[in-house]
Amino acid sequence: LTQLIEQGVAGKRVLVRSDLNVPLEGTTITDDGRIRASVPTIKTLADAGAKVVVVAHLGRPKGEPDPAYSLAPVATRLGELLGAEVAFATDTVGDSARSVVDGLGDGQVALLENVRFNAGETSKDDIERATFAAELAALADAFVSDGFGVVHRKQASVYDVAKILPSAQGDLVATEIEVLKRLTETPERPYVVVLGGSKVSDKLGVIDNLLGKADKLLIGGGMVFTFLKAQGYEVGQSLLEEDQILTVLGYLERAEEIGVEILLPTDIVVADSFGDEASARVVPANAIPAESLGLDIGPESAQTYAAALEGAKTVFWNGPMGVFEQAAFAEGTRAVAQALTTVDGLSVVGGGDSAAAIRQLGFSDDQFGHISTGGGASLEYLEGKTLPGVAVLDETTVVGGLG
Ligand code: 3PG
Repeated sequence: LTQLIEQGVAGKRVLVRSDLNVPLEGTTITDDGRIRASVPTIKTLADAGAKVVVVAHLGRPKGEPDPAYSLAPVATRLGELLGAEVAFATDTVGDSARSVVDGLGDGQVALLENVRFNAGETSKDDIERATFAAELAALADAFVSDGFGVVHRKQASVYDVAKILPSAQGDLVATEIEVLKRLTETPERPYVVVLGGSKVSDKLGVIDNLLGKADKLLIGGGMVFTFLKAQGYEVGQSLLEEDQILTVLGYLERAEEIGVEILLPTDIVVADSFGDEASARVVPANAIPAESLGLDIGPESAQTYAAALEGAKTVFWNGPMGVFEQAAFAEGTRAVAQALTTVDGLSVVGGGDSAAAIRQLGFSDDQFGHISTGGGASLEYLEGKTLPGVAVLDETTVVGGLG
């Protein structure tokens, strides 16, 4: 970004891809973390006199306009956070976008309507995507990639547009990558990885890649039950991925061979049906009743996990320990979050759900070392995969020819 700014962006139109995919209830934003994280890059460019054109997605609309996924409420919030008006275009590359961009003064900011209202954005057809990217590129003189949460997507506003315009990496993407590098390349020890969330199948790549790097792996969330089943326990009506039992068994064996500790809960908060708080009770992990289902790790496990985090120098946490949205099933997640706040080293919270969980449970961002804005993106990085939106900047322009 500095390089781009040094070339002089005053009066230039700079297209910034941000990840403004925030949770909404109606038109109310329930967690503005991603908008806040996007502000520094936008502000730096605006302060340097650029005409900043922000492009972003919200949810997964089907390639056509859908009012339920409008970014209009996000434009308002972005304006509040910037302390300046944000002009909102009611389309992404049409008449409204062109006139809003034409009307921008130096240092002013515009937000385009949800880029996924255009089929070309997410198309699997390279030509279709490139054609749409060319329409976006026509709105700007340079491109800044700052939507870390979406850099794992090979989409027009993330990938293809960087092949057309002089491009640079935004500060948010740069920071995120720097932190994630510390988790994979030179983690300070002890290194503890905490994985939760509902499905083990979503985390296989991360377990594969981090098992050999971490000292301890703490397992929570719905994926616990596939591990318990692999150990021969019955899990009642709990979430279970039968087809992953062998894989999980393989992890348990490998961990033992290489001397990595995998911690599983020893007690579980179960209920008679999903979300039934009235029936919540604690049972031993090896005695889950046939008719009930597990919705959180139990208090004994929460204590063990908190103790396992003591003294850690590096921690990565992805995925809640239970159904934290409900008080009866939130204590496991709260205990892990609390333990993370005392880590004297690098603590990284990755993923939309974990970030939402800590905020919902009343923790504040500055109690943690780093809260990643990327769920899928941070996981893919930790799996060792190439992120198209990052790689494209190396492959192609990385600034140049702003004119
Ligand atoms: C996310 O929420 O993880 C990012 O905004 C990416 O969204 P997507 O999974 O719909 O591509």
